[in-house]
Amino acid sequence: MGLYNKSFCKLNIDLNEIKRINENMVTNAFIYRYKDIIIKKYWYCTEYAISDDVFDKLCTIDNHYFIKLYELFTIISDDEYEKMYTRYQKGKSFFNKDGYIAKYYQPDSINPVMEQSSYLIKSIEGLKELVDILSNSRIMMTDTKVGNTIIKNNGIIIIDPDYYRLSSQDISIIKNNNYHELLQLLKTIFMHYAKLEKEIISKLFAELDNNDSLEAICHIEKELRKVKRPLDLFNKQII
Ligand SMILES: Nc1ncnc2c1ncn2[C@@H]1O[C@H](COP(=O)(O)OP(=O)(O)O)[C@@H](O)[C@H]1O
Ligand SMILES: [Mg+2]
Repeated sequence: MGLYNKSFCKLNIDLNEIKRINENMVTNAFIYRYKDIIIKKYWYCTEYAISDDVFDKLCTIDNHYFIKLYELFTIISDDEYEKMYTRYQKGKSFFNKDGYIAKYYQPDSINPVMEQSSYLIKSIEGLKELVDILSNSRIMMTDTKVGNTIIKNNGIIIIDPDYYRLSSQDISIIKNNNYHELLQLLKTIFMHYAKLEKEIISKLFAELDNNDSLEAICHIEKELRKVKRPLDLFNKQII
């Protein structure tokens, strides 16, 4: 039994050494850690799996604020392998996508709304650049929320692009969608990390969330520059 990439090369992973890291989560996949990579193996039904064309595009993205994706894989037994490889050589193989491997990010235990504001400002700046890169590649982001990030000392990293899709719409429309996703991410970060009434946060974000999400994000950034910690935005009620 082994993990094979799309060219039917066996990945150098010792299955005895993998360790599941998302045991107590509601999830649509098993996530295992192996050395400095994660192995995301979907449940048997791959309806919710990342699409191949999106994966290929995302693989080329090397950005500090976005999960580094490596390869899609299929799991096959040693017996099956000969048959599958012969078919592959004849151009007749069907690649049954079981999951992907990507870089592992060790989370740091910091609270982004209690840190110095410069932490969140720097992440927002980086994430805005990421949005531009993804949008220019025609990628529509979706499901962007705090649960799909890893909070590191040196920034907020977006993971789990399973539902991203390619779009043929105008880049400006894609950008709008993606900035809206980024705004939602900021909202969920406050929801998760600020010990405040959820309604207060929802209300303030609803007020900010007009048609122009980029403008709203820039406004948050401007206000963040005036306070010591992001949480102070709410204490002072300036946004
Ligand atoms: N690259 C990674 N590095 C570290 N932890 C990860 C990584 N990818 C996923 N995880 C952990 O596994 C959880 C579930 O991963 P995710 O890709 O969001 O799966 P699902 O599709 O089930 O939501 C994450 O919330 C995170 O805790
Ligand atoms: Mg997720």
